[in-house]
Amino acid sequence: MSHLHIQIIHGPNLNMLGTREPGHYGSQTLADIDEDLIQLGDKLGVRITSFQSNHEGEIIEKIQHLDAQGLIINPAAYTHTSVAIRDALLAVRIPFIEVHLSNIHKREAFRHKSMMVDIAVGVIAGFGSQSYTLALHGLHHLLQTKQS
Ligand code: DQA
Repeated sequence: MSHLHIQIIHGPNLNMLGTREPGHYGSQTLADIDEDLIQLGDKLGVRITSFQSNHEGEIIEKIQHLDAQGLIINPAAYTHTSVAIRDALLAVRIPFIEVHLSNIHKREAFRHKSMMVDIAVGVIAGFGSQSYTLALHGLHHLLQTKQS
């Protein structure tokens, strides 16, 4: 069986984790989060690659050129606005999980809407950095069942 590859995409301002609004986003840095995902990937036998950008077009290009079987994406503020990222996800038809550190439904009304949630496999929000590892468990399980 070939090795699974899962891509992680982090959207705008997530490079500021660690110092950015720790009340909402915790104190772990993005590098810490990626490190945890790579370690969990090693245990599960999944190759993890990670990409962060503050630019909508770069995220779209990354999606268009994915060579992974699954995607975990925290589109950050673009979650609530980006028809273009939604369209890129539809174009490549990759199974993906939408992830948020904070529980967006507990916050301002403009964060309650997601442009991609209805085309995602699922969404995990509100568990801090653990939202990502929970997503990795879920997506790994899904892809394994698909492969076998
Ligand atoms: C976020 C929630 C978004 O509303 C916000 O714009 C972010 C981070 C989260 O992970 O909780 O930048 O996606």
